[in-house]
Amino acid sequence: MVATIANNETEQTPADWGDVYHVGPGTLAGNYLRTFWHPVFLARELPVGKARPIHVLGEDFTLYRGESGQPHVVDFRCAHRRTQLSIGWVEGDAIRCRYHGWAYDAGGQCIEQPGEPEPFCGRVKIKGYPTQEYLGLIFAYLGEGEAPPLPRYADAEAPGVVETLTYERRCSFYNNVDNDVLHVAFVHHWSVPDWHTWKAIPTLTAEETDFGVMQHVTRGNGSTSHTMMGMPAISYRPYAREIHDPAPTTHLAWRTPVDDESHRGFLVDVVHLTGEEADAYRKGREGNPLFTDPYSGTPEIIQQVLAGDIELDSLREVERIRLVNFEDGATQVGQGEIPDRENEHLGRSDIGVMLHRRIWAREMRALAEGRPIKQWTPPPARAPAV
Ligand code: FES
Ligand SMILES: [Fe+2]
Repeated sequence: MVATIANNETEQTPADWGDVYHVGPGTLAGNYLRTFWHPVFLARELPVGKARPIHVLGEDFTLYRGESGQPHVVDFRCAHRRTQLSIGWVEGDAIRCRYHGWAYDAGGQCIEQPGEPEPFCGRVKIKGYPTQEYLGLIFAYLGEGEAPPLPRYADAEAPGVVETLTYERRCSFYNNVDNDVLHVAFVHHWSVPDWHTWKAIPTLTAEETDFGVMQHVTRGNGSTSHTMMGMPAISYRPYAREIHDPAPTTHLAWRTPVDDESHRGFLVDVVHLTGEEADAYRKGREGNPLFTDPYSGTPEIIQQVLAGDIELDSLREVERIRLVNFEDGATQVGQGEIPDRENEHLGRSDIGVMLHRRIWAREMRALAEGRPIKQWTPPPARAPAV
């Protein structure tokens, strides 16, 4: 625990270090984000021996799963005449370019040049990036140098049914990071109706932890809870129980920048059921697209909502899982793809937002000035349940 700010502090992040919105190669936030592992794809959507193009942090890459089952990420283009490698094919754990058959191993080293009488593979290398599968997601480390260990979440590894989802949202990832506790009472006043009362407006304090920001929430009736927003952009709620959860559930959500103006949410829910209860739960959801792909089409509907062509309230009857995404999405995209921070008016309820921004600014500044950056670790098992 390093710093705590109370409700009456409202100072703002120094603007000079506050640009979290530009994430491409060579930008400050981009450099900082490249010191973390990011989820880039749902594991269940990448079959063995298949390749896919992906766009992360403003860059294109090739993702493929080798015949060993291991996922790999290498550069987007072949080094020969620059065609897109994802249209090639996988052989073992290598990928072969469709154009003239050059092959690359998982580290990006060229290993075959069938058309060359005197192959010069040894001088040809594209980039390969550390890649790991964890909790049903494929994570990649897109930075320079040696990757740090992939952070592990003890509560998410506890027995249970692991479910993964992803959604596209057409605004900066940081709009989603800035999503505060108070929003639930308003943004979700249809989907979480018990929040729709002024009595539920909580008092908040926030503190820095080894993981990021912990917010303490005290409601009018004296009940308390916590929310964790880990660095750089991870929401973690171990053993939480929401109204639609059939059992205590560990919720993890990463917000991976696609580019400056869009991001992808990757969600893991570990429903802590075992044995027959787990089997029955799985069976009840099998083959139902509502539980495997509930968010298809949401970015387009959100655009229509923001254009005034659809009223958000007219969506009240859609399934709750979809409604929540429309509500959050419309609000966050409604701030602008890159919001206008200079004209914001932050108040006491924004203390968690301010602390997270301050930490980001401090860390980006340290990185820019060549000083050590803080190494973050997820909390140990059985963190306080929300
Ligand atoms: S462009 Fe890839 S082998 Fe020629
Ligand atoms: Fe929300």
